[in-house]
Amino acid sequence: MKQSLAILALALATALPAVAEEYRLGLITPPSHQWTKTAETIAEDVAAATDGRVELLVMPSGQLGNEARMLQQLQTGAIDFAMLTAAEFANRDPDFGIFYAPYIVEDIEGAGRLLSGDVAHTLLGRMSDFGLHGLAWGTAGMRQVVTRDEAETVEDLSGLRIRTVPLAPEMDFWREAGAVATPMPLPALYDAFANGQVDAMQIDHEGTWNSGYWRHASTILDSRHMMFPMAAVASGRKWQVLTEEDRATVAQIFDERIAEMVDLYAEIDETNLENLRDTGLPVLSVGRDWFGLAVDAWYEDWREKAPLLADLEAEAAR
Ligand code: BEZ
Repeated sequence: MKQSLAILALALATALPAVAEEYRLGLITPPSHQWTKTAETIAEDVAAATDGRVELLVMPSGQLGNEARMLQQLQTGAIDFAMLTAAEFANRDPDFGIFYAPYIVEDIEGAGRLLSGDVAHTLLGRMSDFGLHGLAWGTAGMRQVVTRDEAETVEDLSGLRIRTVPLAPEMDFWREAGAVATPMPLPALYDAFANGQVDAMQIDHEGTWNSGYWRHASTILDSRHMMFPMAAVASGRKWQVLTEEDRATVAQIFDERIAEMVDLYAEIDETNLENLRDTGLPVLSVGRDWFGLAVDAWYEDWREKAPLLADLEAEAAR
């Protein structure tokens, strides 16, 4: 009797279509941002490739909380996937801060090479230290500077409150450059800049254009001084719930779509820079020398803090 019930249960399980599971994917970027658009494409691809078994519900604009909160929720399995800046990781383990090394790459192509290189691969594996499964490294546009008042030299930024991501390597850089690093998550930035709570911001051309920060700006510094890594991760707990086949499918889709996104950023930066030039605002191109001793000072400090930086520098030099 027991055996025939078991056979019946097995027959029913194989006859019934698999139940669709909905998984939540959180980000802090708004719907207009490329990270969110890529997340939407990933969700469509995953649903199609798993015959609807895995449905990703994309939740942008910090709907699931800030990144610190999202990390906690990923760790407990309360949310399933996220596309995050490296801030929360870098603040806990300095090795995760090394991609913010100033002028370690010249452009998005260089960023793409390092984000798919050996060091990046090692760091993706170390996401398990945070209870996560690392899926892929991506990037946003190169970092630039936008100021409320006119600025021509780095001395013009001295003592100004410059918005950074709440992230040790960015804040250290601006302290070395003589500004007052003012950490602020993306969703709070528009009002703070418009109201003068910050005098300047570190951001990318995409945000400056799409979110309209330029409307309150006097100068745009096309400095390209850092890349801006993005980590696509799954909750370690929830990753185990997927079948091996679905894990392979999901991992491949994240990998491919995020690699495409990284390539796209060269164009996104250029298009938005053109848009910004068309506003008539002064756009100054500045390079490593413009920052004086700040870049070298940053490296001195961070070579001590983050053992993996030396490996990344060697990889960048190859
Ligand atoms: C920022 O906080 O500057 C930022 C966050 C995510 C994507 C791009 C920029």
